[in-house]
Amino acid sequence: MARITVIGGGYVGLVTSACFAGLGHQARCLESDAAKVDSLRSGAMPIQEPGLAEMWARHSESGNLSITADPAEALSLTSFIYIAVGTPESPDGSADLSYLREAVHTAQHYSDLSRIVCIKSTVPPGTCAGLQSDLNKDARPEDRWTVVSNPEFLSQGRAVQDFMNPDRIVVGSSDAGISQMVAGLYFPLDAPIVSVDSAAAETVKYASNSFLALKISFINEISRLCEHTGTDIGQVATGVGLDSRIGPRFLEAGIGWGGSCFPKDTAALEHFMRSAGLESQVVSAARAVNRGQVEHIADQLVRMVGAGFGKEIAMLGLTFKDGTDDLRGSQVLPLINRLSADGFSIRVFDPSRPVLRNESLPPVTVCDSPQEALFGASGAVLATAWPELVSLDYASARHLMREPVLIDARRALDPGKLKALGYRYARPGDGRTAPHLAQRPELTGTLSAA
Ligand code: UDX
Repeated sequence: MARITVIGGGYVGLVTSACFAGLGHQARCLESDAAKVDSLRSGAMPIQEPGLAEMWARHSESGNLSITADPAEALSLTSFIYIAVGTPESPDGSADLSYLREAVHTAQHYSDLSRIVCIKSTVPPGTCAGLQSDLNKDARPEDRWTVVSNPEFLSQGRAVQDFMNPDRIVVGSSDAGISQMVAGLYFPLDAPIVSVDSAAAETVKYASNSFLALKISFINEISRLCEHTGTDIGQVATGVGLDSRIGPRFLEAGIGWGGSCFPKDTAALEHFMRSAGLESQVVSAARAVNRGQVEHIADQLVRMVGAGFGKEIAMLGLTFKDGTDDLRGSQVLPLINRLSADGFSIRVFDPSRPVLRNESLPPVTVCDSPQEALFGASGAVLATAWPELVSLDYASARHLMREPVLIDARRALDPGKLKALGYRYARPGDGRTAPHLAQRPELTGTLSAA
């Protein structure tokens, strides 16, 4: 059992604290927002994450888990300091490390025992090494710090499960003994330990997220070909994904990728490589395809509905994926912007009822039900695959709409059923459901004798 302090009570920090407590450690979370600390202490979990609230309650009760806004309390007599603060995207695309530096400063100032800092936050290669040398600038030999990169691979909606069943645990440090201690914190989880230097660990995180993003962009690019040739990307993805070298996951075509990680991490990688005088052609292309996917879906809708002026579009879903109320990086936001610029009025319903704060959005009508959003609409987009939107009664919904035009941007519905209900239905990557989209070439079958 180790004493672990996690700095940052955001998404990653809360999950990390609770899961370390779940592994039997004494976990303390340091969160500067006193209101958040109070509400967590009174049993309210600020984020939607399956299993997390129960886990938090159980381990708080057993005394293994606590949260405080007091750095002295959080950092006294602790053995490992984890930093799990945000590294958001700066206007130039680079990772903003200001919260990270602040957290390191807090650790340095308040830690009376531990000299091991583990970075969970996603940071550019070289960051841990830089922090370590800054911390050690005036340190006495017995006070020397080690900064370890120990990236997270937690996807929203399954973060607890991802933490407890990792594909791998990546530990980056040039100090083999400390790497072993950090890896030991995850005992008894059954996962390969990838023990590397800190720059490699930092790069693993960027490369993993970028690769997943480009896998999705790749299938979205191929989905355009399927529309052109009159076939369906679902069939193609099945055939491609069964190659064990490729694998079936992250091959779902649709509206493109969003979220709090892929957009900012691909931007940061692009920026980092550019500032190093290198090109990031593949990652940049993945980002361009992703931007283009929004335009592509908007173009499909405009073709089906006609010019926008005065027409209303129902946007079913707003979050970047279902199971979260997070709007960060959601592809639905630029889609709304584009349609609004085309003169459409947008009526939005999202089951998580996300709070619209600083999102750059034109005025939209936020509705209390999908039916309200669909009422009088000249077209609808299923933009997030929430189960309640997928299982909507589309037979009666059709009668609420002015025109029964439906774009299934998540490819979550049954095209045959929707067409039988009288919808003019299209989904990305399916040249059969939207034959007017496909300008099919003459497929003349010129099989030459090999
Ligand atoms: C991701 C990574 O999966 C996780 O390992 C990392 O550490 C944080 O970023 P998350 O942002 O929660 O997790 O979302 P994820 O489930 O990976 O999906 C990202 C985006 O890709 C979503 O917008 C999703 O809808 C989209 N997606 C995913 C597709 O369009 N097609 C797919 O096949 C898979």
